[in-house]
Amino acid sequence: MKLIKRASIAGVAGYVPDNVLTNDALEQMVATNDQWITTRTGIQERRILKGAGLGTSVMAIRAVKDLLQKTATDPATIDLLICATITPDQITPATANIIAHAVGATRAFSYDLQAACSGFLYALDTAAQFIASGRAKKVIVVGADKMSAITDYTDRATCILFGDGAGAVLVTEAEADSGYGIVDTICKSDGGGQHLLYQKAGGSRWPASHATVEAKAHYIHQDGQNVFKAAVTAMSEVVVEMMAGHQLTPADIAYLVPHQANRRILQLVADRVAIPMEKVMLNIHKYGNTTAATLPLCLWDYESKLKKGDKLILAVFGGGFTWGAMYMIWGYDGCKMM
Ligand code: COA
Repeated sequence: MKLIKRASIAGVAGYVPDNVLTNDALEQMVATNDQWITTRTGIQERRILKGAGLGTSVMAIRAVKDLLQKTATDPATIDLLICATITPDQITPATANIIAHAVGATRAFSYDLQAACSGFLYALDTAAQFIASGRAKKVIVVGADKMSAITDYTDRATCILFGDGAGAVLVTEAEADSGYGIVDTICKSDGGGQHLLYQKAGGSRWPASHATVEAKAHYIHQDGQNVFKAAVTAMSEVVVEMMAGHQLTPADIAYLVPHQANRRILQLVADRVAIPMEKVMLNIHKYGNTTAATLPLCLWDYESKLKKGDKLILAVFGGGFTWGAMYMIWGYDGCKMM
């Protein structure tokens, strides 16, 4: 849907824990090896949040505080804070409430949004709608996940993939008639994928019990091959749909910003949409799949390279299934200073 009052990203920040989990370290934990992980996934290391009682909000708060500082934003002027996560600190209250309180966003209303690895794009689209309607002028969107909390470190098929991290963006109204900002978003979902990528227990259907813990039902499970195929098809198709809808050619695109699930998925998507890999933002090698955090962490890593007017296509795929694409025209040059 095209937006009337256009929203734009006015700043980006991120946080990843200091603790690094390398492929070599995983070799000591499960039957795997660096060469298999690197060639099959492109992941060399990931960050893990260590410490009793530390949840997703710890990382998100660090990212949001840096964002407020670097954009010189008074937290009391934030209207809305949305946290996309599948690993909230607790079931209730929302992690967004905890973040907003900690950063002093006293006027903001806040809530969590769950769309698995598509969560950040869904939340950014929601923020853009609030800006478009005039209901909010300043929105913070956080993508944050502590995937280590739901990862089974005896299961080599999943534990090699995931990492912890948080990224946050400030969304404001674009300068009038500037042409910058979020131009268009396509969000899709299909619950037919529910049996291919899931965490079974901990919700209302399978509340925590001795049996669910013994069955390892609080960990993330997936059918890797089918998820792989679905991710390639869905992300490629939605990027093509977005580009066709706006008469964009690969040469027009400064960067494709895809969800970081597996480097081979990204390569196949890039090939299918004919965007060269040097125009594909990548951080999977150093952070793994950080679920809702992959996109804002990519923007954080590449912020210094971005220029006003750069055309970006964001693309996501995740559990649900959920997927989507966003077309935006970047609104500022280089890094906002700390
Ligand atoms: N180390 C070594 N061997 C492993 C392994 C590991 N960590 N994980 C699986 N294997 C083995 C398998 O047991 C299998 O052995 P077999 O041939 O003797 O049966 C072999 O490697 C191939 O397994 P397969 O599952 O076909 O590998 P793959 O190339 O599909 O890679 C994934 C597995 C999980 C990396 C890949 O399917 C993937 O990335 N899927 C998408 C996951 C994803 O993105 N999830 C989140 C979506 S948002």
